[in-house]
Amino acid sequence: MTNVLVIGGAGYIGSHVVAALLDNGATVTVFDNLSTGTRENLFPTARFIQGDILDKQALSAAMTGQEAVVHLAAKKAVGESMQYPDKYAENNISGTLNVLNAMAENKVKAFVFSSSAAVYGIPQESVLDETCPVDPINFYGFTKLEIERFLTWYDRLKDIRFVSLRYFNAVGYDAAGRVKGLEKNPQNLLPIIMETAAGIRSKMAVFGNDYDTPDGTCIRDYIHVTDLADAHVRALHYLKTGGKSQILNLGTGTGHSVMDMIQKTQELIHRPISFDIAPRRPGDPAKLTAKADAAHTILGWTPRHSSLDEIILSTWRLYQK
Ligand code: WQD
Repeated sequence: MTNVLVIGGAGYIGSHVVAALLDNGATVTVFDNLSTGTRENLFPTARFIQGDILDKQALSAAMTGQEAVVHLAAKKAVGESMQYPDKYAENNISGTLNVLNAMAENKVKAFVFSSSAAVYGIPQESVLDETCPVDPINFYGFTKLEIERFLTWYDRLKDIRFVSLRYFNAVGYDAAGRVKGLEKNPQNLLPIIMETAAGIRSKMAVFGNDYDTPDGTCIRDYIHVTDLADAHVRALHYLKTGGKSQILNLGTGTGHSVMDMIQKTQELIHRPISFDIAPRRPGDPAKLTAKADAAHTILGWTPRHSSLDEIILSTWRLYQK
């Protein structure tokens, strides 16, 4: 793909996608309202439009000359989505429909969507492939699933082919240090471990140690954002070469427990991480890992940066500062 519009390109995952696209010679335009993304994450070689996906005119103008859209602009805090579903409906659903309508209007036909393992809800299996039933248990996951359903209709009716990428637990930072913005008020495990290690928090909570797992803490599939970014580049290439619409899991297939993550961080950065065992967090399944064979077969994608060492050290490099 030559001309790519990256909506949400100043965010955590979006900025890594921009880096990967630039590395692959694409001409990139970032469209972002900077609500959670930051200017620090912008690349001087990508054009930047500060705009909101609720602004149809701005979106339509941004589509001029584009061949493809990667859409990552979304609200993503699970807890908040249950408290303020209106905001999530407006931003994640209405906003994405605006994007798709602007694409249709401007004849942009290739779409890569940032979806989530949250669409599966409480899994019936601990290893999930794309054929597993979808039944989100939070409103955030519901918004992602709704968009996937709209996508199949926009493919049929508007000829927009898509790849929807269901990320498992996104972690890590660009090895070259090009992405500099830390997430504001992070809710996920690894940034919380890092904030504790860096002294931003005095202590962290481990939500439950009585799960049916070897050490009693929950197991997740942590995937490096650089690997996620690579899948976006491959998805765009796949669509450009005529590939049909797909929904694909992105994970490593390997799980790590909460205690694995804490212990490995202590070991690698030589700092103590103080924690308390707290009650279980509602809605947390004991074990969740991806079967990502389809992404491998269809996109030729294999995670290459998702060892715990690389994940933890690339993240610590930023938090250390
Ligand atoms: C991981 C593990 C926690 C914080 C979420 C979303 C999912 C997707 C990825 C976007 C769990 C435990 C966490 C803490 C802890 N998001 N934990 N103490 O819940 O697997 O997935 O992010 O698409 O939709 O639900 O990730 O990082 O919040 O938690 O013990 O302070 O760490 O209980 O077992 P999760 P997470």
